[in-house]
Amino acid sequence: MKVAFAKPELPSQGAYIVGVLEGRKLTAAAAQAEKATKGAVSRALNASRFKGGQDEQLIVLAPQGLDASRLILSGFGNPAKLDAFAFEAIGGRLVAALNGAGEREATIAVESLAGSNLTEGEIAARIATGARLRSYRFDKYRTKEKPEHKPTLKKLTITLSDPAAAKKAFDPLDKIVDSVIVTRNLVSEPANIIYPATLAKEASELADLGVTIEVLGEKEMKKLGMGALLGVGQGSDRESQLVTMQWNGAADAKAKPVCFVGKGVTFDTGGISIKPAAGMEDMKWDMGGSGVVIGLMRALAARKAKVNAVGVIGLVENMPSGTAQRPGDIVTSMSGQTIEVLNTDAEGRLVLADALWYAQENFRPRMIVDLATLTGAIMVALGTEHAGLFTNDDDLSDKLVAAGKATGELLWRMPLAPAYDRLIDSPAADMKNIGGRYGGSITAAQFLQRFIQKGTPWAHLDIAGVTWSEKDRATTPKGATAFGVRLLEQLVARDYEDK
Ligand code: BES
Ligand code: MN
Ligand code: ZN
Repeated sequence: MKVAFAKPELPSQGAYIVGVLEGRKLTAAAAQAEKATKGAVSRALNASRFKGGQDEQLIVLAPQGLDASRLILSGFGNPAKLDAFAFEAIGGRLVAALNGAGEREATIAVESLAGSNLTEGEIAARIATGARLRSYRFDKYRTKEKPEHKPTLKKLTITLSDPAAAKKAFDPLDKIVDSVIVTRNLVSEPANIIYPATLAKEASELADLGVTIEVLGEKEMKKLGMGALLGVGQGSDRESQLVTMQWNGAADAKAKPVCFVGKGVTFDTGGISIKPAAGMEDMKWDMGGSGVVIGLMRALAARKAKVNAVGVIGLVENMPSGTAQRPGDIVTSMSGQTIEVLNTDAEGRLVLADALWYAQENFRPRMIVDLATLTGAIMVALGTEHAGLFTNDDDLSDKLVAAGKATGELLWRMPLAPAYDRLIDSPAADMKNIGGRYGGSITAAQFLQRFIQKGTPWAHLDIAGVTWSEKDRATTPKGATAFGVRLLEQLVARDYEDK
């Protein structure tokens, strides 16, 4: 689907979309359509329950007086309450409706709204962003789909008095959407296509944008003493990899970087502590955290963010085999701390233990955020609407929560405390890799915290519940969400870039 911005003009074909505010108040474009159709807008309103709320739509088919196949009244709600994200949702829902209706082309009229703190250009740009995000589809392996079942919408034109302003506002958002799509594609690919070496290769593509890439194989990691990460990968025929992506965009090239670390288990069978067969296919997206780090680094580099940022991803495949690690094995991590592996399915924390340590030793970051599809327990606690946030820093917590609200990628803070930490003490080693039956996402976070050096602000995002969506959402179709790319891009833009 292509998006274009143009001067206000009634369409000559396709769908025409105008906004109606809360209380059925017509926008100027809706009033113009009312006039052109000799009252069809108000007749339709009177015949319906449509109130103009933010998630409402009312469709008038083949309206007389307009050269449009349908006129869609799109609820804009109360302009004072409509933030940028709300307009993205409106754009997303429109695209879904247009594809559902079989439209090939659509024009949406945008204007500045009294009471809104967004300009018409920003409104247009956000609608375009939501539209692009929702039109995403992973269909490369569907060779036999009938054309009539494919999405129809090819072109969305957004009209406003200053198209250039919309284009300017959309340009950076458009690039972020490209990066979100990169992440969604990586996460959607099956594990026979995306495994450590191929995912490392995908990350290496960022070199084209000026990102410095380094890839470590098993030999190098062994030298560094990464026994925790390597233990997870030792049952797989695929070689484990550790990739660092460096973007140096700050005025001061020596300024301490922000650092993002991702769990990249390209497939998680559970290992010898093998998972049940039902639903195991979901574990192709157990590299979601690393997929987000790749997309985020891409987004920062694409818009030449004025920040020094480092992405580190630990890539392994967790397989059962004659060489796999066994429950009870004790491994030595790069930090020197030893770990009793009581459950080989609690592997993400083992990978992150070494990736986090490596990141701190090499880059001394000013802060570090890790992302991981770490525990089923976070889904029990928070469902699929919030990711779990664990952090040792209240200020970083506030910043992350605010960035989440601004992008619709919501976070909910969970506790860390010494009493939880004690649950992973082991009589046989420095720690064990599982806690007890309760608080599973917390004991996992406590485990990670044991690999955070004193004085480093750190946050862990458990994204197990938000990485893959079972249902369509306003700006995210079913499937890979790329949750975290927009959130962290926003965090960097707000709080860590040179001004
Ligand atoms: N990758 C899983 C967590 C997961 C589960 C992500 C479902 C997405 C959807 C992780 O490696 C895992 O297996 N965790 C175990 C930990 C347990 C063995 C302590 C879990 O959550 O059951
Ligand atoms: Mn697991
Ligand atoms: Zn896992």
